[in-house]
Amino acid sequence: MEVRNRVIVVTGAAGGIGRALCRRFADEQAERVVVSDVDESAAQAVSSELGGLAIACDVSSPDSMDALVRRTIAECGRIDVFVSNAGVTSKGGVDLPIEDWQRCWDVNVMAHVHAARSVVPRMLERGEGYLVQVASAAGLLTEMGSAPYSTTKHAAVALAEWLAVHYQPRGIRVSCVCPAGVDTGFLNPDNVYDQFLKRTACSPEQVAEAVISTMREETFLALPHPEVGEFFAFKAQHYDEWLENFAKLNERMQRLAAKRTSKR
Ligand SMILES: NC(=O)c1ccc[n+]([C@@H]2O[C@H](COP(=O)([O-])OP(=O)(O)OC[C@H]3O[C@@H](n4cnc5c(N)ncnc54)[C@H](O)[C@@H]3O)[C@@H](O)[C@H]2O)c1
Repeated sequence: MEVRNRVIVVTGAAGGIGRALCRRFADEQAERVVVSDVDESAAQAVSSELGGLAIACDVSSPDSMDALVRRTIAECGRIDVFVSNAGVTSKGGVDLPIEDWQRCWDVNVMAHVHAARSVVPRMLERGEGYLVQVASAAGLLTEMGSAPYSTTKHAAVALAEWLAVHYQPRGIRVSCVCPAGVDTGFLNPDNVYDQFLKRTACSPEQVAEAVISTMREETFLALPHPEVGEFFAFKAQHYDEWLENFAKLNERMQRLAAKRTSKR
């Protein structure tokens, strides 16, 4: 699908990857770019720059999601492409507070469910549409620094697969975006795991480029870091070796973090 003349909604679009996607869609002459974020004034700033439409939405709320979809259709007539991009993380393991697990679950998984529940029936009526779900390489591999992030991003990939299996034959395209590190405010400069990701981080504009070419080809995985595909294939073929490699890497990270803490 070409994005020219399409009505496109992007969630989590006030900064980072979402903003880069909105800018790129506007450059590609989308008919309308709906810039949505829980941070209304920041969404407004991006939308003013592009001549888009800003709509506030907390993606973790089904009512807020439904209101975003309804208002977009009221103002723009339809939704051709829905980019479910908003995401959050909490660094830590299974012992993180339950509230942190719940927040990751609500934003990284249930938001995609709310979007699909609201948007898919309307796309089915029209016989076409495109769902772009921003997951992460953490959903194909793992994110050593965060148990809830890894778990919920795996669930996001699983949902995207399920949607593709059920709705692609009925005219709805589905792509799942799985970047490794991306240079946005999402990466915490003081966290050793994020410092590791930052070493090979790409720009949000490179993610937007990967999304455009994946949509053009109408393929499932958008991989701004092609090596993620190689690691994913290695994991499938040598699961135990892959786990051992990550365990060794994780030990190195934890030693580094401990050394830093003891110097403070
Ligand atoms: N930056 C990375 O290294 C990286 C790597 C892989 C995947 N991702 C994924 O890419 C997506 C975008 O990340 P980013 O790097 O641009 O992050 P970011 O923090 O720069 O931007 C995320 C945006 O989502 C918004 N948001 C947060 N909670 C929301 C909610 N409940 N409702 C609506 N909006 C909400 C924030 O206000 C913010 O504008 C996320 O899903 C993230 O998990 C990021």
